[in-house]
Amino acid sequence: MGCIGRKTKIQTKLLQWFKKNKRDLPWRKTRNPYAIWVSEIMLQQTQVNTVIPYYNHFLKTFPTIQDLAKANLSKVLKVWEGLGYYSRARNLHQTSKTISNHSNGKIPDKLKDLLSLPGVGRYTAGAILSIAFNQEVPILDGNVKRVLSRLFAVSGDPKKTEEFLWPLSESLIPKGSPGAFNQALMDLGSMICTPKNPNCLSCPLKNHCQGYLSGKPEGYPRRSVKKKVPHIEAIAAVIQKDGKFLLRQRPPKGLLGGLWEFPNWKIEEKRRLRLRLRSHIKKEMGMDVEVKESIGTFHQTYSHFKLTLHVFHCQHLNGKGKGKWISIKDLPLFPMSRVHRHITEQLGEEIGI
Ligand code: ADE
Repeated sequence: MGCIGRKTKIQTKLLQWFKKNKRDLPWRKTRNPYAIWVSEIMLQQTQVNTVIPYYNHFLKTFPTIQDLAKANLSKVLKVWEGLGYYSRARNLHQTSKTISNHSNGKIPDKLKDLLSLPGVGRYTAGAILSIAFNQEVPILDGNVKRVLSRLFAVSGDPKKTEEFLWPLSESLIPKGSPGAFNQALMDLGSMICTPKNPNCLSCPLKNHCQGYLSGKPEGYPRRSVKKKVPHIEAIAAVIQKDGKFLLRQRPPKGLLGGLWEFPNWKIEEKRRLRLRLRSHIKKEMGMDVEVKESIGTFHQTYSHFKLTLHVFHCQHLNGKGKGKWISIKDLPLFPMSRVHRHITEQLGEEIGI
């Protein structure tokens, strides 16, 4: 069979399979470019099942791009809370304002314009253009890379094969069905062509798959060497005064930008934590506290490091400090990262709320 025959077979088989087996996902019930854009940003670095409730809640809260543009950032971050990679929420919000004020209030439908938006890369732009605008633009993420690498037995260094896989992804798109085809690739990658133990026997493409026919589908793509992430230790203070707790807001840009948290500091050594905490609070906040019992040790994995946070109750003695004093019942109103939300939950349990 020639190359052209094979390509047509792959397209037909995959589209047929998708029609029968596609996942029932909320963003598949719409063609609204705004909704598709929100879904694709949420799906960056995040699993489908995690995204579903966030997507539903986000669209209920901000049904149109104008609603998002009118909202304040804290509200947007609150709806995003727990989803991680918060720059995505800041970029969505910023872009909604730009688009509402210029570009006639519509999500761009040209690759170049989409790529100029913060937080929109080639994958996300391809997904939006193919799904919302029916344009024959390719996608390539981890799932699609794996599917194509197996299908064509591409075994090179995964960083270098992209150059080759992008045009391959483009060449496979069937005329007239880019959205269905691209989403079929995504579903095949997450339902059948999984990293480990792929279910080749159920795969609609098995007879065309060089990886399967080689007998070692798991050998494609070659595994990239995982970088070791550094481990950071830090201490945090839950400072109490008249039944209220001190929160600080992180600067708007950078890691967890705009989120609220209990004052905290990195430590180089895991000794004398209470003493260190007291001295940071004194030096950097001009406040005297008595460091009391531990609230616990909390762990969180971020993209570039792992964090262990040792948290202590502190009783305020004197000094004003910077930040906001918040009553326990108002703590849930402030957008926080996952660790700090866990601390407030722990606090609520201790106090009995
Ligand atoms: N991953 C990224 N985009 C997706 C989509 N539209 N459907 C399912 N999984 C996805």
